[in-house]
Amino acid sequence: MTDYHDQQPTVLVLDFGAQYAQLIARRVREARVYSEIVPHDISLEEIQRRQPAALILSGGPASVYAPDAPKMDARIYEAGIPILGFCYGMQLMALDLGGQVPHTDIGEYGFAELVVMEPECRLLDGVPESSQCWMSHRDSVGSPPDGFLVTARTTVTPVAAMEDPERKLYATQFHPEVAHTAFGQQIIKTFLHDIAGIPPVWTMLNIIDETVGRVREQVGDGRVICALSGGVDSSVVAALLHRAIGDQLTCVFVDHGLLRLDEADQVVRTFRDQFQIDLVHVEAEERYLSLLEGVTDPEQKRRIIGEEFWKVFFEEATKLEGVAWLAQGTLYPDVIESGNKTAAKIKSHHNLIPFPEGVHFDLIEPLKALFKDEVRAVGSELGLPDEIVHRQPFPGPGLAVRIIGAITREKLDTLRAADAIVREEIGAWDVDRSVWQYFAVLPDIRSVGVMGDERTYGHPIIVRAVASADAMTADWARLPHDLLARMSNRIINEVEGINRVAYDITSKPPGTIEWE
Ligand code: XMP
Repeated sequence: MTDYHDQQPTVLVLDFGAQYAQLIARRVREARVYSEIVPHDISLEEIQRRQPAALILSGGPASVYAPDAPKMDARIYEAGIPILGFCYGMQLMALDLGGQVPHTDIGEYGFAELVVMEPECRLLDGVPESSQCWMSHRDSVGSPPDGFLVTARTTVTPVAAMEDPERKLYATQFHPEVAHTAFGQQIIKTFLHDIAGIPPVWTMLNIIDETVGRVREQVGDGRVICALSGGVDSSVVAALLHRAIGDQLTCVFVDHGLLRLDEADQVVRTFRDQFQIDLVHVEAEERYLSLLEGVTDPEQKRRIIGEEFWKVFFEEATKLEGVAWLAQGTLYPDVIESGNKTAAKIKSHHNLIPFPEGVHFDLIEPLKALFKDEVRAVGSELGLPDEIVHRQPFPGPGLAVRIIGAITREKLDTLRAADAIVREEIGAWDVDRSVWQYFAVLPDIRSVGVMGDERTYGHPIIVRAVASADAMTADWARLPHDLLARMSNRIINEVEGINRVAYDITSKPPGTIEWE
């Protein structure tokens, strides 16, 4: 799917249906080795064609004895490539090579004490005799295949790690890729650098160099257009393409007027003034406000905004002469998808962009081999400001989803002012970025209050701040009371029409992060 593996020593992660396959690939890259996820049933011939420097077999939810348990081509064990198996991957390796995996019905879930039994072993080199690891399994290896040495145990699991250095085969029952395994990353590094001999050469600089080279080759002297939103992905695409092809790139920034305070200015400042990119800034606020007038249904708001975006974008795109390419900020997690059974299927790369009749551009997706944290690192390396590189997730439909009820310019201005205070105050407190997302919401209600001697009838502002790792689940952030008090005072004093501030103390589930 990419050409990185032609130029980089690559580790292939065989996906046995684990939620962990992506995490393994990321950990390998954090050890500065390029990695990709492939289906577990990849053939020996395909492996030989791709010439990986090592293989990692992921865990998986199945039992090795289940009738449809995912298998791998057993000839691969004999190919002389260093292999490391985790959890299910270890059990399969044991079973395929003549070991025993008895049905014990004694599972082990969560933290366990890992006891290294062979200090001279290779994989656990430098791991102390006792440390913490993370387990999540029902079956486990009873006796390893001939030639393997058992190198560690836990109280419940007699074979917690095994290895056969002669055949370059290594395995752990625990999960080194999860942060709860104290020496997990060290074990992965030992495998990659010491055992497989792969140098740590995958860095942001060579991602940039290689991508730049590839883009130049792909587009030649063609012109490229890029839809720039100010979000991390499209910003990095723009900066990267600009590095590659300079003024062959034009960015179109559809400013729907639903952005946060100063956001549109910042996009223009960064890309037009700092990077000197050819930027078309389409100020479409009026157009959007009139389309959204009186619309209260959240789905309808989203639909209008989404459809209009592409309409405006293509109106501009088709005004430009000789543009053949459209750049898109697709990331690696958008491309891989754990198949519904077991294999990591490459998502059929359907084109989600609604090209109007008679309009077509070829797609260029320079980030499609990268994880989000790599994209951020590339962005920083290219000189994008922190406010963009570490920007919080922000919905495409913008503040429209944070105004409950009909949208007006006044409400947008009110919400923007309150949101700026929330971001300023929490931002100053949360210097290490431990809070995932924080913002203000303007609901469609009013209540009575009193300010000075006067009775007021104003809107409340709801402050939302959540802790999360991936936005799938979230908990409300336990902000200090003093910080909440300061935000409340400032919002009421500085934002006209607001007479009350509430803090949302709902986790997800049952709530969602956004209000709509
Ligand atoms: P919810 O509200 O479903 O949000 O808990 C989960 C995460 O997704 C973000 N979000 C969006 N991001 N376009 C986006 O790019 C959208 O339309 C959109 N809606 C929600 C939300 O901010 C949170 O991080």
